[in-house]
Amino acid sequence: MLKLKDKINYLPLASREDHQHELGQFFTPKPIAEFMAAHFASHPQHIELLDAGAGQGALSTAFIKRVCSNTGKPKSISLTAFELDSNVFDYLATALFECERLCERSGIEFKFKILNEDFISSVVPIIKGDFFATSLPFFNAAIVNPPYHKISANSATQALLQSVNIEVPNLYAGFLALIIKLLEKGGELVAITPRSFCNGPYFKLFRQNLLNTMSLERLHVFDSRSSAFCEDKVLQENIIIHGVKSDKQSETIVISNSVGKIGDPIIKHKIDFTNMVSPDDLDQFIHLVLDSQNISTKVAMDRLACRIEDLGVTVSTGRVVDFRVKSFLRDQTGGNTVPLIYPCHFNGGFIHWPRENSRKANAIVKNDKTRNLFVPAGVYVLVKRFTSKEERRRIVACIYDSNQIHANEVGFENHLNYLHINGQGMPLSLAKGLAAFLNSTVLDNYFRQFSGHTQVNATDLRRLRYPSRESLEILGYKVTEGMGQLELDRVVEKEIYGEKENFIPIIS
Ligand SMILES: C[S@@+](CC[C@H](N)C(=O)[O-])C[C@H]1O[C@@H](n2cnc3c(N)ncnc32)[C@H](O)[C@@H]1O
Repeated sequence: MLKLKDKINYLPLASREDHQHELGQFFTPKPIAEFMAAHFASHPQHIELLDAGAGQGALSTAFIKRVCSNTGKPKSISLTAFELDSNVFDYLATALFECERLCERSGIEFKFKILNEDFISSVVPIIKGDFFATSLPFFNAAIVNPPYHKISANSATQALLQSVNIEVPNLYAGFLALIIKLLEKGGELVAITPRSFCNGPYFKLFRQNLLNTMSLERLHVFDSRSSAFCEDKVLQENIIIHGVKSDKQSETIVISNSVGKIGDPIIKHKIDFTNMVSPDDLDQFIHLVLDSQNISTKVAMDRLACRIEDLGVTVSTGRVVDFRVKSFLRDQTGGNTVPLIYPCHFNGGFIHWPRENSRKANAIVKNDKTRNLFVPAGVYVLVKRFTSKEERRRIVACIYDSNQIHANEVGFENHLNYLHINGQGMPLSLAKGLAAFLNSTVLDNYFRQFSGHTQVNATDLRRLRYPSRESLEILGYKVTEGMGQLELDRVVEKEIYGEKENFIPIIS
């Protein structure tokens, strides 16, 4: 039989991608579905299974095949599958009839229900206990790959979710939050999602809810952005979550990772929950600490003396949004212009400006429309807001020093964050220490524990802990221009860890 994917393949590429994009539709490859199904730990006699956004049924099929091959088989499985796209209905039904035959051969009673409905608008009234709402069972198992889509502000979806106290920026998190509400105590959830919920302010309420209602048993991280869904060009870092509904967290959690291609080795270890989410972190960032080195990095970074405000330093985002002031941008300096600094001006530890033959401007005209976009001459630390996947580090910092670029003012373009003291520059030794710290491999490792994307927000830099001002200034004196990464790391690590690295043993 022709699979939906093949059918869609006959469409021009643009329509296929539009269709998928609209529905957040990326089908789970069979080996990953099987890997997910293998996460379930309990063996209830009567399984009430939920598959929300079931697609062609890859996940339910993998789950049922797994259960049928287990030695301790259940008496019955009852599956509720929600799928909005009627194009996949036939394929889903075919897959589930196949599951029915499989269960029959295994002596398991199997019932299924496909609801060709919007999961959110169907389930919210049930959760609210609306009188006319259809009823659903409490589920003891849910296996999902929910659709990924931003939820627009003031949309009907947002209003529905808010009506049951769910505040999320993306559909996948909305699906998970609802599924958790539909699980009975002790019910298990296995989901594959982007890892963006692990950090950032927009997912804070979701994280709090997840951590308060589910005991996380295992997180599996796919290291490479595209390998899990390579056929569908998904450029997200994916994570598999396995949790059990409970108001108490397990003390330990298994974290595993693989590159994502089938058959790649899986590295797995168990860590204390507090190494993943720091007890005193009000933002409840989830750190995907993948080895003992990662744990010692986290412990060392959490112990650093200062918040950025203790240093008297502030992080802001470059004020020059170039397309808004296009007519005032200049390739050449001179006249009534001010230097304009883009990421392309980064060159090792210091800014290289102006840049000949660059696609980006070097200067911006100073006039009434632009004058409040500049900061006074001084020494600033600049950090790229976006790095390419190919770049070795996620956090790339550089120093702007007006002793090298003679100008009374400077404009920092919006793709940069800049560190300053009350809107002015800072001492060179402090700037050098800060840049060295931000450019270190240890910080990069720490950052990657909680951030799966290549974007570095001002809030990320604000919530890091920093060495004391004294330590930073010592670092500033020790680092020299042109110092290689290895030497810089050695100097920074000595300052952070002291003489000897102190590895914290992992449990297994
Ligand atoms: C990421 S795909 C995963 C499909 C399938 N579970 C799998 O793993 O292969 C998400 C599915 O959710 C469906 N979907 C999107 N929005 C939905 C909604 N509001 N209610 C129910 N299903 C939805 C899409 O059509 C798509 O098939």
